[in-house]
Amino acid sequence: MPNTIYLIGFMGAGKSTLGTELAHNLSRPFIDLDILFSRRYQLSIPRYFQRFGEAAFRDVESSLLAEHHGLDAVIATGGGVIVFPQNRTLLQDHCASTIWLHPAWKILWRRIQSSDRPLVTEHTEAQLQQIWQDRLSLYASCADLVITSEDSAVQLREVLGFCR
Ligand code: S3P
Repeated sequence: MPNTIYLIGFMGAGKSTLGTELAHNLSRPFIDLDILFSRRYQLSIPRYFQRFGEAAFRDVESSLLAEHHGLDAVIATGGGVIVFPQNRTLLQDHCASTIWLHPAWKILWRRIQSSDRPLVTEHTEAQLQQIWQDRLSLYASCADLVITSEDSAVQLREVLGFCR
């Protein structure tokens, strides 16, 4: 089994929930890059976006990903990590397994519509759905496994089956 198991997918796909369970089941550390980001900079992601903007966030997100690449861990990424080509190169690396959580749009929207995530507060549903559409081929280009179920128990079963 490759060293790093990455969970990718749009906001609301369930990466953090599955990551916690998966890491526990595989007895590996769990790293949530969004949480790590907020801890390291002592700022919530919405605050960071307000102060420094999305481009600065993307740079830091990219260096955090590179810093943890190759670790024997389960890593949940932020939904936009696939935007930078250098991030996709790491996610596609043969020493990583990348799992794309890909539930239907209506599930994602139901889960994120009241959140304070900057992309959600700054866009209408139609705009956000367009961002999701535009990202689909990028997620697909990195994925070793695609899971369309939104049910975390089903997700876990499928990933564990893939890992064994
Ligand atoms: C983002 C997703 C968020 C977070 C930031 C930007 C995105 O992570 O990294 O708000 O561009 O899709 P989650 O997918 O964990 O919510």
